[in-house]
Amino acid sequence: MSAAPEKQIILITGATNGIGLDSAIYLAAASPNNHVVIGARSLSKGEKVLKEVQAKNLSGTVSLVQLDANDDSSITAAAKKLKEDFGRLDVLINNAGVCPETAEDQWPSRENFRSIFETNVFGPTILTETLIPLLKASKSPKIINVSSSLGSIAAISDHSGSFSAVPYPAYRMSKAALNMLTAYQYYHLEQFGVKVWSYCPGYVVTDLGRDREQREKMGMESSETSAQGIVEIVEGKRDAEVGTFIARRGEQYQW
Ligand SMILES: NC(=O)c1ccc[n+]([C@@H]2O[C@H](COP(=O)([O-])OP(=O)(O)OC[C@H]3O[C@@H](n4cnc5c(N)ncnc54)[C@H](OP(=O)(O)O)[C@@H]3O)[C@@H](O)[C@H]2O)c1
Repeated sequence: MSAAPEKQIILITGATNGIGLDSAIYLAAASPNNHVVIGARSLSKGEKVLKEVQAKNLSGTVSLVQLDANDDSSITAAAKKLKEDFGRLDVLINNAGVCPETAEDQWPSRENFRSIFETNVFGPTILTETLIPLLKASKSPKIINVSSSLGSIAAISDHSGSFSAVPYPAYRMSKAALNMLTAYQYYHLEQFGVKVWSYCPGYVVTDLGRDREQREKMGMESSETSAQGIVEIVEGKRDAEVGTFIARRGEQYQW
């Protein structure tokens, strides 16, 4: 009798809502060999979400870790728990993100600017660095940085379309910085077999920007489509595009 295959340990930050939550559900449904760790900044919300996901009786398994991307002690404690529970990490999905700007804002205050970068840039950077030893312990480590087409410098530089006029400057800058993190991580981690991507999940209905109703009215797609794209990366279907900026349905963006 052959031994049961080792489970693939997948950590998703910000998995209590939107794209992160749908990704947790889709990845847990994708294979009995997937174990999804729901990263939750609020433990009480995380416990509620964990119960809801477990109630779906998906083929894979799910657990919870408290993880606030803005808090170094939370990051250190989460890494310690992952080490104790699993001894390695196979997939890190840096999904947690915020966009508190409104379309009317010219520029956010320094404080708001800093809070956007805290979550969207400093958090994934420090979390990944903290988890490197666990990723190196994996046979096939992957990092997915959830970015946005709004972070593409190539796209805003093409003034022929309407894309350049889209506001949210601090959010755009934070995702451009996250894209640099992807390229930087890929250069430095490739030698250890770590695959890294920036992934744009598409413009979908979530609570990002607190404009869910407007997104629904505009007929935006469900965040389940973003989750399906994440499953494809985890399943190795985008391996040939490692180190690049990719999106759902086989798309690839210019940095
Ligand atoms: N929706 C889109 O159209 C779109 C487009 C492009 C890119 N994205 C990116 O997709 C990612 C997910 O966004 P979403 O649309 O799913 O937004 P969402 O519905 O607002 O969910 C964001 C998630 O991030 C968590 N979070 C926020 N700050 C955090 C922190 N400091 N530490 C840990 N978790 C934190 C939230 O936790 P709580 O549940 O506690 O609030 C929530 O679970 C973001 O990186 C976003 O920039 C989204």
